[in-house]
Amino acid sequence: MSDSLSGMPNVMSIEGGIPLSGTVRAQGAKNAALPVMAACLLLKGQTLTLENVPDLQDVRTMADLLKTLGVTVETGTAASGTTPSAPGAALSHPGPSHGQMRFIVPEEVSSEAPEALVRKMRASSLVLGPLLARGGQAALPLPGGCSIGSRPIDLHLKGLVQMGAKIEIRSGVVYAQADQLRGRRIYLDFPSVGATENLMMAAALAHGETIIENIAREPEIDNLAAVLGSMGVPIEIEGTGCVRIKGVEEVHSGSERVIPDRIEACTYLLAGVMTGGQVTVTDVIPAHFDSMLAKLEEAGARFSVRRDAVTVFPAQRLQSLSLKTMPFPGFPTDLQPQMVAALSLAGGVSMVEESVFQARFLYADELNRMGANIRIRGNTAVISGVSQLHGADVRATDLRAGAALILAGLTATGQTRVGDMIHVWRGYEAIDEKLRSLGGRVELIPEDEK
Ligand code: EPZ
Repeated sequence: MSDSLSGMPNVMSIEGGIPLSGTVRAQGAKNAALPVMAACLLLKGQTLTLENVPDLQDVRTMADLLKTLGVTVETGTAASGTTPSAPGAALSHPGPSHGQMRFIVPEEVSSEAPEALVRKMRASSLVLGPLLARGGQAALPLPGGCSIGSRPIDLHLKGLVQMGAKIEIRSGVVYAQADQLRGRRIYLDFPSVGATENLMMAAALAHGETIIENIAREPEIDNLAAVLGSMGVPIEIEGTGCVRIKGVEEVHSGSERVIPDRIEACTYLLAGVMTGGQVTVTDVIPAHFDSMLAKLEEAGARFSVRRDAVTVFPAQRLQSLSLKTMPFPGFPTDLQPQMVAALSLAGGVSMVEESVFQARFLYADELNRMGANIRIRGNTAVISGVSQLHGADVRATDLRAGAALILAGLTATGQTRVGDMIHVWRGYEAIDEKLRSLGGRVELIPEDEK
């Protein structure tokens, strides 16, 4: 039985113009949870226990994929040692959870990732490295492109070939085979997050040491390194953007806590800034979003930073600025749509250049329907700030675009209805409940009332 959240309402209605105030806790990071869940496939007859896993559609999809491969996935109360839930059992605690998940991995697992699940979520490609490393073979349908551009996995495959894998692509399926992966020095042409993660997991069971240079530096990479370390893999990330991994014969049961979601946290901080309220986000690691805080300060926002919490305060109208999305520690592409929504109300003209993905401005037309004045020139958005947005019926084109439209609706006059919320449920746990707890007038419209 799928654990899908697809039954969640697909339209969110927002009454804008209310300054938000209050405190919300950041969820576990979606982009940390997905790779560390895939890492369980390195185990044989052992268990991986994760804490602070967010209850998201993408997490449920990854859990479904692991179950299809033969892994028993326990969640919530079941994972805390009471009666184990059967494979495929629904999450025992739908809704907001800071849950524990346990992955009980048999000696043998299937090596074929089902197309339906891979098509549903690009991060399914993260099972390739661990499956190949633990069993010598893997079959993975090529992940599709999506609304933010084509998203190949050529860097993943190039690294695996360097480690001795034989790769064939037939009818859109990657067939990988390797009797024994060998440790190598690998240079990534681009600091790809997914390629870094797949190759780190492959290296865990390779023969000898693997050195990967020009790795992604996102905090989620450190979280994966911690999980591999907990499973007995000697791993060292050096400040020069290089990781050293000594392959082991076999890994043992491990456990780790998923780090806070820096993108979700900053989305709520921006909600406070844009509505002129006072919002605190707790259980965060501020160092994970220094670039965002620097740009907020440059734009004139007021905020305070504590060890594990950040509070934004009412301030004057934001000032325009220029920014370019970059791999970490640069400004994250996953906050680009939300920041453009905020800058659409700033004084002056702002320039936002998207350097990571090819086409991550599809949402701009939807913001313009709400009264924004955004023109796209190549991979740069030119944003002429307006004094007010007005509510409209809009549609989310992807996860972060949906978040940007929700932020715009919170500041707009009148009612905004955001459709295709299915994208938002992929990455924002209980966003309606969290916004209501901050005073937001937010309702989900059941399908039959649309
Ligand atoms: C991860 O995607 C995140 N997803 C993305 O978050 C995030 O936007 C992205 O990293 C960049 O930070 C997860 O972690 C599950 P990449 P990933 O490999 O690994 C090109 C969200 O909203 N590329 O760093 O797919 C690629 O096409 C999502 O939470 C190749 O050309 O990102 C893209 O243009 C969206 N060949 C760029 O590199 C490859 O082999 C960045 O990709 C791999 C990537």
